[in-house]
Amino acid sequence: MAKAAAPAPAAPASAAPPRAPEGRSRDVMMRMWRDWLSPHWKRLAVNLMLIGLVAGTTSAYPLIIKNALDAFETRDVQMISLAPWLVIAAVTAKSAALYAQRLQTNKILSEVDRNLQVAMYGALVRADLARLDREAPAATASRFTTDILVLHTACEKLITALIRDGLTVIGLLGALLWIDWELTLYALAALPAAAIPIGNIGRRLRRIARRSNEEAAVMAGRVAEGLGGIRLSKTYRLEGYLADKAGETFDSLRRLRVRAADQRARIDPFLEGLAGLGLAVIFWVIGTRIASGENSIGEFMAFVSSFLIAGQSLRGFGTLYAEIQQGAAAGERIFDVIDATPAISDRPGATALPRLQGELRFEDVSFHYGEGVPALAGVSLTIPAGAKVALVGRSGAGKTTLMNLIPRLYDVSGGRVAVDGHDVRDATLESLRGQVAVVGQDAVIFDDTIARNVGFGRPEASREEIEQALRDANAWDFVSALPEGIDTPCGERGLRFSGGERQRLTIARAMLKDAPILLLDEPTSALDAESEAKVRAALDRLAEGRTVVVIAHRLSTIRDADLIAAMDGGRIVETGRHDELLERGGLYADLHRLQFREGA
Ligand SMILES: Nc1ncnc2c1ncn2[C@@H]1O[C@H](COP(=O)(O)OP(=O)(O)OP(=O)(O)O)[C@@H](O)[C@H]1O
Ligand SMILES: [Mg+2]
Repeated sequence: MAKAAAPAPAAPASAAPPRAPEGRSRDVMMRMWRDWLSPHWKRLAVNLMLIGLVAGTTSAYPLIIKNALDAFETRDVQMISLAPWLVIAAVTAKSAALYAQRLQTNKILSEVDRNLQVAMYGALVRADLARLDREAPAATASRFTTDILVLHTACEKLITALIRDGLTVIGLLGALLWIDWELTLYALAALPAAAIPIGNIGRRLRRIARRSNEEAAVMAGRVAEGLGGIRLSKTYRLEGYLADKAGETFDSLRRLRVRAADQRARIDPFLEGLAGLGLAVIFWVIGTRIASGENSIGEFMAFVSSFLIAGQSLRGFGTLYAEIQQGAAAGERIFDVIDATPAISDRPGATALPRLQGELRFEDVSFHYGEGVPALAGVSLTIPAGAKVALVGRSGAGKTTLMNLIPRLYDVSGGRVAVDGHDVRDATLESLRGQVAVVGQDAVIFDDTIARNVGFGRPEASREEIEQALRDANAWDFVSALPEGIDTPCGERGLRFSGGERQRLTIARAMLKDAPILLLDEPTSALDAESEAKVRAALDRLAEGRTVVVIAHRLSTIRDADLIAAMDGGRIVETGRHDELLERGGLYADLHRLQFREGA
């Protein structure tokens, strides 16, 4: 296959995703406990009891062993016959408690996962567009999967391992101290020193985890981007390019995972070595004692087995620490989404707008996306209620940007936008957006029935009203021909319908909404002539009695506009009616001449 030497398509949104300042892992996990886990405290308490039972029965093993071995030596028949039953009882209790505890933990944590996802999604759909623009949707979606999973695992370990291993260690330590406190202290002398290297490994792991979660998000973004544009990519033979580009993220993800594994892999051998050292001490001390008859074999066995089990739990602590560091990194990415407060929201004291007449005023409006050249500068324009205004201009002139300021998809950087004299920022978003209907270039249809998709225009609308809206939108001919009528599912992104059909469904939605202000962003530019005629007729009907702002590339469609505003470089350079502007011989006349020559 020929390697694509094609020019790179538009840069993907894989730039640095939003990043929260790095807090301490403990803070993240404390917050996890406070906000998300503690509401389940009752079930967690039951869980704790079950874990206690597991730890208790585990600590009982060495005691049974000790008594059994002593009984073997002293030929204590009663104890010898009891021992197997004690073992069975301990094992049964432990297994049952273990099973119940796992089920419980899973139930609680799945609920926590769900709640976090609900909170994240809620925050995202309310978030400012400016924030959403910063990260590819699929990359954001990975916070719902990868990060949730990592955090889930950390919490599971925290609940299970910390408490279970903690109790086990305490229980066994008690047993060890009870059997021989002196020896215990000898064997564990080196333990406190272990905290330092493990702490270092943990911090490194957290940094790596943070980067690998970010990289996983970029990877998800690239995969989705590649597959999303696969039709186009095939015709441009971009398979090689796409594979290479995604391959880079697979590679850096692999490198990060290897580094994380390397750090994690150091913990076990280190603790194992420490345990081995302790064991050697035990052998040495008890060996001498047994030789001098001070200790029995039973004591020795009980001590060694307790020590080995405690060693295992201690090792669990080491891995646990690593998991928590990774969980904290994921938790940060999750809270980062949940904490984002939208800048575009109701001001304190915002008032609900009354039903609008539809007068629109831009007063010395400027706007910039992030840093750099402003997209709009010094735009002033008054649109009387009920008028039809067309925005024209070359690509990048700022037409869409200007339109987006009306329903406050973005807020102005300077100046103000007013509807019927009310600054849009003083109105409640609900009352403002409820009175603005938008029909855009790409018809947004969700994977639901036609009735639902159209019904979003006015949720309380009856089926008859929906049907009427479809009729008014010239959509009834194809909808009524479907066997399931308005209950037909639209399929993902409405792809079972043609472009023109989808467009008419969105017009029906806007019909139903019956808003005094209508924004049309080139809704017919992608349609063929016949489709366009149908959509246009529907739009004309929709426009009746409303204030209409339309962005049109085909100038033939705006001859009848009450006002045409020609934009260039973020400014309005001329306004007037079609004939006036043609006569003036400015930008509009230029654009018109250009299109006329192309025969558009
Ligand atoms: N989300 C965004 N982030 C950063 N810059 C943007 C964004 N959207 C638009 N711009 C920039 O703002 C300027 C105005 O863009 P806008 O989309 O308003 O132009 P337009 O007149 O609608 O063009 P077109 O006719 O191609 O749709 C352009 O320079 C564009 O690159
Ligand atoms: Mg545009």
